[in-house]
Amino acid sequence: MCGIIGYTGRKKAAPIILDGLKRLEYRGYDSAGIALLTRREDLGLRREDYGFQVVKQKGRLAALEENPKTAKLEGFTGIGHTRWATHGEPSDINSHPHLGGSNRVAIVHNGIIENYKQLKAKLESKGARFVSQTDSEVIAQLAEHYYSGDLIDALIKTFNALQGSFALGVMCVDNPDIIIAVRKDNPLIIGVSEHGNFIASDVPAVLNHTNKVYYMEDGEIAVINKDEVTFINSDKEVITKPQTTVTWGVDDAEKGGYPHFMLKEITEQPKVLNDTVNITFNEGENKKTIDKIDFLMFNRIVITACGSAYNAGLCGRYVFEKLCRRSVEVELASEFRYKDPIIDEKTLVILVSQSGETADTIAAMREAKARGAATLGIVNVIGSTIAKESALCLFTAAGPEIAVATTKAFSAQLILLYALALKAAANMGRLTEGALLKLEDEIRALPAKAAEILENVDVLQKYSSNCIGYKSVFFIGRNIDYAIAAEGSLKLKEISYIHSEAYAGGELKHGTISLIEDNTLVVTISNNPALHGKIMSNAEQVISRGANVLLLGNCGGARFEDCGNEKITFIKLPCCHELFSPSLSAIALQLFAYYIAANKGLDVDKPRNLAKSVTVE
Ligand code: F6R
Repeated sequence: MCGIIGYTGRKKAAPIILDGLKRLEYRGYDSAGIALLTRREDLGLRREDYGFQVVKQKGRLAALEENPKTAKLEGFTGIGHTRWATHGEPSDINSHPHLGGSNRVAIVHNGIIENYKQLKAKLESKGARFVSQTDSEVIAQLAEHYYSGDLIDALIKTFNALQGSFALGVMCVDNPDIIIAVRKDNPLIIGVSEHGNFIASDVPAVLNHTNKVYYMEDGEIAVINKDEVTFINSDKEVITKPQTTVTWGVDDAEKGGYPHFMLKEITEQPKVLNDTVNITFNEGENKKTIDKIDFLMFNRIVITACGSAYNAGLCGRYVFEKLCRRSVEVELASEFRYKDPIIDEKTLVILVSQSGETADTIAAMREAKARGAATLGIVNVIGSTIAKESALCLFTAAGPEIAVATTKAFSAQLILLYALALKAAANMGRLTEGALLKLEDEIRALPAKAAEILENVDVLQKYSSNCIGYKSVFFIGRNIDYAIAAEGSLKLKEISYIHSEAYAGGELKHGTISLIEDNTLVVTISNNPALHGKIMSNAEQVISRGANVLLLGNCGGARFEDCGNEKITFIKLPCCHELFSPSLSAIALQLFAYYIAANKGLDVDKPRNLAKSVTVE
């Protein structure tokens, strides 16, 4: 949901800011913009001729890069923005940076200003003239309204007046070497390098220059110039913050020869599974955290998340319930706090989030904490809000995930949910030591099985390439296969724009089967031998109404002909315990969606209307 970057240093700012924006484009890509400031002495200009150089452009970052005005940008200090529109259509004028009425202050903003209408009306009544339809412009106008020579004072007054969420980068013509950053409920990091300093929404934006970062907290103000970074609070008192060294490098955030990040990230999954298993089941931080959890303290377990992370929770529920014989609820985080949730100090609320910044999941976490529940995050991004605010946190060792559609982080989330279910079952006396070790071995075997799927990718690639003409695809499964069907359906629709829905195999005939006709594809998932006959009956029901079936899973005949019906194509997945089969089905379903979208020539990594980190409600 919008990416912001700022740089001040000894190198030319424009190429550095554009490169950083490229690495933040996953956060939004409706429009982009950049504002630079040059010391007027350097330009030989009089005060009145001196100001921001701004280029803003609707469309992808490439459009901004190709704009001839961008090539003319000069200066060593600047801010940039890549936008996911919330208030006001994507247009040049609504793009950031926004300037105040007399062009003294420029800002880039990620977030939403909820009281912008009231603030705008107040400023307009005092003569301010707004040029955009955005909520963000009010920040620049307000900062100028309060400005009388001390930018920090003006910004403190501005922040106090704002309601909503914001990560901000601010510059002022009177302080041409300084960028000020502040956050409330939206991520912001400060990067320090030998040639200059940065503000950014996320680490990949600065990795080409430094791996030394500070994670900002709500209410902190960072003042950066080319040589130093100072953190202060709203009373202007200096704060000392720990610096973090990021352990992954720029290569992790590059495509590395793959046509899309999504394919690269799918392919990385054997390693990601292995790394996550290592830190969770062998010696590692996750293991230490899991060892601390006493499931006997809780009489209720709730998993809450959004999108794919929610689907991971759906899979996790089956594993918990099967192993612990205890009911587990899975709630959409966007609904959680509005349903007056029945939780108390005996409830464990598990928050699953790749980014750790999803607004609804953060709100669910805060609601749970306010009601006294114990909170446990499952997060990929270290230093994110959920990682910091949840009482305990487990980390998915997925590394940076750049493609908007999640793949490897989802797979790592599954591993952590399995691990928690195993620990809970052992805690509750439901698993003998021997049974526990056997299940752990099944999980340890998953990375090699994931690699097996990827080694045989040709079959799925060939099949999927022939599926680009489908208008509608249904995904069916039973039990845990139904949970992973939901993820398969989401993956396909979000990147290929083909309509799709997931159904429990037995449920289709209660209405939705009326949508099945010639040339509908039904992806059928079958990993549970006990339910194979049942799901195959459901497959037969749709075939007799004209559908084609792709059967995915480890149940069924080994060869296509064994299925006994030429309308069925069977792609066999490696055998594994049914409870952990989502890990293998997920990879096959991701590849299926990927190859369809790629063969349709779509922008797989940046599907329309989406952004990776959904920091608005
Ligand atoms: C789908 C996808 C989204 C995210 C959802 C939650 O491929 O990536 O549905 O899963 O927006 O995001 P996080 O996990 O960052 O909370």
